[in-house]
Amino acid sequence: MKRIVVLVSGEGSNLQALIDACQQGRINAKISAVFSNKAAAYGLERARLADIPAHALDVKAYEDRTAFDVALADAIETFQPDLVVLAGYMRILSAEFVQRFAGRMINIHPSLLPKYPGLHTHRQAIENQDAEHGTSVHFVTEQLDGGPVILQAKVPVFADDTEEDLVARVQTQEHNIYPLVVGWFADERLSLKNGQAILDNNPLSVQGYAED
Ligand code: GAR
Repeated sequence: MKRIVVLVSGEGSNLQALIDACQQGRINAKISAVFSNKAAAYGLERARLADIPAHALDVKAYEDRTAFDVALADAIETFQPDLVVLAGYMRILSAEFVQRFAGRMINIHPSLLPKYPGLHTHRQAIENQDAEHGTSVHFVTEQLDGGPVILQAKVPVFADDTEEDLVARVQTQEHNIYPLVVGWFADERLSLKNGQAILDNNPLSVQGYAED
């Protein structure tokens, strides 16, 4: 069975969706460990409740980003993961870290990439009066929020939406699409080849998988 390591910084609702999908057999893989850069992240508690090893690394204990990322990558590799899943991991990754897990690390980002990389995506969508917003699962490359998209989900933006409304609407979709994509990877249907996301031997478009 494939091994997955998940990285979180906060609430861990996407981690929970992955835990549930593994337990229910919708993902044919095992979450071997969860790591965080925040000891107080509730995601670590969710892992412990599911009997998954949960570890926090203290950023302050390391000289710089490179040293922290080397320690984190070394710790992750002790679990020999087939896939590293970033689930609300809110720390910029060093190029060395990204290269070490190239082709086997994915992220979920709350926007319809390439629109709105970075922070405060929901606020930007509201301020720009966008008709739709959404979320993207993508392979992680050295470009922040810029790797090949695998799958997106769209939601409407309503005129009276608060940021919280939109966050909640997007997260509902995240909890559907992230387990789906992790399941594809676990079933060896998904890969990254020459900078292109491939599903079932078909290269995916810039917006990822889209059903006709
Ligand atoms: C998710 O909505 C995810 O898209 C976002 O953080 C949230 C984490 O929620 N990720 C990013 O913004 C990464 N750039 P969770 O901790 O409840 O899963």
